[in-house]
Amino acid sequence: MTDLIQITYISRATFEPGPRENGVEPHVGRILMSSRRNNPRRRLVGVLYYGDGCFFQCIEGERAAVQALFSRISDDPRHTDIRVLRVRDIDVRSFNDWSMKYVPAAREVLQQLRAFGQTRFDPYSFNDEQIEKMVDLLRTSADPTTGQLNSTSRRNAPADMMGLTYLAIALSTLALAVSCVTLAMIMEWI
Ligand SMILES: Cc1cc2nc3c(=O)[nH]c(=O)nc-3n(C[C@H](O)[C@H](O)[C@H](O)COP(=O)(O)O)c2cc1C
Repeated sequence: MTDLIQITYISRATFEPGPRENGVEPHVGRILMSSRRNNPRRRLVGVLYYGDGCFFQCIEGERAAVQALFSRISDDPRHTDIRVLRVRDIDVRSFNDWSMKYVPAAREVLQQLRAFGQTRFDPYSFNDEQIEKMVDLLRTSADPTTGQLNSTSRRNAPADMMGLTYLAIALSTLALAVSCVTLAMIMEWI
């Protein structure tokens, strides 16, 4: 029998936000890259939100794997004030398609925060209902980093394959054009 849990925690970034690269703060981009590299082999999934200097992360998987990752994350100097909001047993992974989904401070999240009476993201003041709503929103929100950040997120794999297919088609077309020009020159047509 599987022993799956979901942990939701918040923390404060210790770094000064740098200019975004492809819409993602560079420190956060590096965190996502290592998450997407490491999580699949531990069968961990989840979502990461970063806004106004705070993280909100939900991680799901086997109890021991989640606990081991959370212990490593807790020692990470890129954040502080780590507070576990809730740990619960689950039957299935709800972020199953994502090794680590990323949701930016996009319109729907900002709308949700306004509904909570917040002008800045302050998850330290969330009550249980707001935590639940935030996790639900992150489950349905789009991840704009799909196909970027060398992601190994399962949902990104088809996007990577499409990129390779287009590259192969472009290279084949180029090779055909070069062959045609060479042939035309040999035949002294041009
Ligand atoms: C907010 C936050 C969330 C993180 N989430 C993950 C994660 O889901 N998976 C992961 O492997 N590392 C995560 N990390 C990074 C780990 O703390 C650690 O740096 C990393 O696992 C080390 O692995 P690496 O040597 O392969 O980069 C996170 C770090 C922070 C600050």
